[in-house]
Amino acid sequence: MMGRACLRALVLTGVVLHPASARAQSATDLATTTRGPATQLTPQPGSAGLPTPIDPASCSKSDGDWAERALIRSQVPQLGLPPMPHPDDNPPTAAKIELGRKLFFDRRLSINKTMSCAMCHVPEQAFTTWKLQSAVGVEGRSVKRNSPTLLNVGFLNPLFHDGRDETLETQFIAPLVARNEMANPSAGWVVSFLNRDSTYHARFQGAFGAPASLDRMGQALAAYQRSLLAGNAPFDRWHYGGEADALSPAQKRGFELFTGKADCAGCHPIGDDHALFTDQAFHDTGYGFLREEMRQNPPETTRVQLAPGVFVDVDFDRVASVSSKREADLGRYEITEDPADRWKFRTPGLRNVAMTGPYMHDGGFNTLREVLDFYNEGGPGHPEQSPLVYPLGLSDAELGDLEAFLESLTSPNLNCLAAEARSQPPDNH
Ligand code: HEC
Ligand code: HEC
Repeated sequence: MMGRACLRALVLTGVVLHPASARAQSATDLATTTRGPATQLTPQPGSAGLPTPIDPASCSKSDGDWAERALIRSQVPQLGLPPMPHPDDNPPTAAKIELGRKLFFDRRLSINKTMSCAMCHVPEQAFTTWKLQSAVGVEGRSVKRNSPTLLNVGFLNPLFHDGRDETLETQFIAPLVARNEMANPSAGWVVSFLNRDSTYHARFQGAFGAPASLDRMGQALAAYQRSLLAGNAPFDRWHYGGEADALSPAQKRGFELFTGKADCAGCHPIGDDHALFTDQAFHDTGYGFLREEMRQNPPETTRVQLAPGVFVDVDFDRVASVSSKREADLGRYEITEDPADRWKFRTPGLRNVAMTGPYMHDGGFNTLREVLDFYNEGGPGHPEQSPLVYPLGLSDAELGDLEAFLESLTSPNLNCLAAEARSQPPDNH
């Protein structure tokens, strides 16, 4: 069914796409099998695919002054990570970080006081949302993209899947006022609320010696997010720390593939003294093209989970009749309107990637193995696709090694970051 659809030329935003090649059919089929229903709210198939929950209670150092500890963490580099670049006009302090954390968890910063930043960037779920392909905001309104993890976000520039903002000091305004996220009538409306609240008034005075303002709100949120660092993974101990046994033989073979035959490091680079696993650039991997093709030619039925392990195949038209149509996503093009940027997305960092699914800009892949199968197929091969994505010819065993390598990028600090995040109940009253 998708095969025939693939052989039709598609007309999209005035551009005629060429019929996809034979290998596109199998890559498309691959994506088809992993696609959630149009509601985008479907849980993943069973809980087996989800990582073990991050348990804040398992952090052994959760007592003491967490804000002070977060300050030190944002100043002292961890194994495998570069020093955090703090802007000259926003040096971190414990008071700013503490205020930023409070803002991050405060549901009153949304129009109907239900939605905080932390509800899409959940600490126990590695500061992303495990069960949602794409985010859901106030009143259940869908966002077309997947919530990225905020772990190590302080190193990223530009921000967002399409790079439409450059600093954490300004990024937060977008979710505050987006109709399908926190839906505030204006950013000024939020600042007025903060200035009317006596606790916030005192906190802003303590951190800045001045009342709340949009700039100071951004500075506090940025200082908090720059403290969310998670390095020192088994890979770091092996590669940068010289601990020969920190990785398993499969993980070491996976590293050889990642930097060699599979050529992943071309876009997810590993440096001499640190690795962010992103070139911070935009690429057309072919994934966005596949998703658009599928959006225009939806499968006849779509799989819906009724209860854990219980699925039904529902007629797509029926699903479409009760849900909003999935929006097109042209990636970087939506920012630059340069046709050369169509379907380009920013390369995500891969640290902690085993804990940050579902994957890709719209969360269309539930597991790392699905992502790896996509790369192994080589994408749809449409003319604009990056030459760095091509059929890799990896065996099943090699794919297993690559997956094992990606699992070696998980930091041991995630439980303590979650414990810190929950160290004080949010005061949403
Ligand atoms: C409704 C869910 C939702 C809420 C609420 C939300 N976010 Fe996000 N966040 C997202 C999604 C989805 C993206 C990716 C959007 C895109 O790329 O277009 C994102 C992206 C980001 C990024 C960029 C990360 C990167 O890798 O580039 C940061 C930083 C961020 N959010 C912080 C915040 C802060 C701070 C708040 C609260 C003021 C917040 N978010 C509220 C869903 C949400
Ligand atoms: C041409 C550059 C390029 C190459 C080569 C490349 N990637 Fe990617 N990778 C990207 C981009 C861009 C995305 C985001 C795509 C999107 O969201 O649509 C991505 C996404 C991913 C993701 C999903 C991460 C997340 O948080 O959603 C994983 C995992 C990944 N790549 C691993 C790999 C592996 C393993 C290889 C080698 C087999 C590889 N990549 C090769 C650019 C590349």
